[in-house]
Amino acid sequence: MSNARELKDGVYAVGAFDPHLEEFDEALTPLGTTYNAYLVVDEQVTLIDFVRASTLDQLLDNIRAVIADRPIDNIIVNHSEPDHSSALPEIVKAYPKARLYGSANAQKALAAYYPDSTYEFNVVGADDTLSTGEMTFHFIPMMMVHWPDSMSTYLPARKMLFSNDALGQHIGTGERLDSEVSLETLMGSAQNYYANIVMPFGMQVTKLLGEVASLDVDMVCPSHGVVLTKYLGEMIEAYTRWATGETDGHQVTIVFDSMWGSTAEMAQYLRRKYEASKHHVTVFNLAEEHFSVAVGQLLESRYILIGSSTRNNHMLPSVAGFVSYLVGLKPKNRVGQAFGAYGWSGESITDIHDALADGGFEMLDPLKAQWRLSE
Ligand code: FEO
Repeated sequence: MSNARELKDGVYAVGAFDPHLEEFDEALTPLGTTYNAYLVVDEQVTLIDFVRASTLDQLLDNIRAVIADRPIDNIIVNHSEPDHSSALPEIVKAYPKARLYGSANAQKALAAYYPDSTYEFNVVGADDTLSTGEMTFHFIPMMMVHWPDSMSTYLPARKMLFSNDALGQHIGTGERLDSEVSLETLMGSAQNYYANIVMPFGMQVTKLLGEVASLDVDMVCPSHGVVLTKYLGEMIEAYTRWATGETDGHQVTIVFDSMWGSTAEMAQYLRRKYEASKHHVTVFNLAEEHFSVAVGQLLESRYILIGSSTRNNHMLPSVAGFVSYLVGLKPKNRVGQAFGAYGWSGESITDIHDALADGGFEMLDPLKAQWRLSE
């Protein structure tokens, strides 16, 4: 059954819902997600992006509900990651005359992913346009938001920007528009999405936001989650802050794992200490909570404190994985502190300290305790 929705005159949301998805790119997705695609009906018909292959039937049902047996003339490929492109082999079989448009890097990736598929591919960049009758599409390269092939597509005739992974959220609960979810749900999901996926690319996000600011846009259509209209201003404001690494200076995130409870006691000691100095503190025990939830929280935290017991001269595996993941996300303007209890040697604390320092954190002195912390 179709769940296509007309967003503006001749522009339809035809993507797929994946409400039961539990994890995407290592991060939990408690609300599932969507793989958004958009159909623009003009003298020619243009599809913007595909979906994950597992949800192909939803896309095909939605396309047919809008254009019945009419062919698709153009397919704009904003991004080649398989959550958007893995339906390509079946789509180009269903619409063999469609011409594809995308970046040079997208062309290379699609050729490698789908060597058995046949299609015409046209490389486009910032100076190119695609006219389909009344409407003309413009292309905005946005390298590394999220991959080197990524781009956005601008449709001035409808004041719409198809932003692909930028400005997305993992909300797959059935809504198409931001006005149909609460601001709290929208921004919470966007924060988690930004922290776990987009954070390393703050500089590129800033460049993109600068370009978008010069466009006449009142609707942004990302490739995941709901379309932004009502809360577009709030989302742009949050992205602008997140991209620069700005925090209010009063939030502290403490993340730890503990073998026998001594490092856990230290986490609570640090919580009391920071709360006493008017900070807002959130504590995550990696033995009980998924690391991606802590990453979503620390996006707004100036202080990130990480603790681990020492086991076999190393950090606990949960903390080692978290530190590796965190450093890869390249958070900016953060203060770090390593802490932990140990029995014999205490290498975990030094390892955490060194890894965060190498990752660009401003480091406070480590807090170490042999056996247990003595107040
Ligand atoms: Fe939604 Fe980078 O793919």
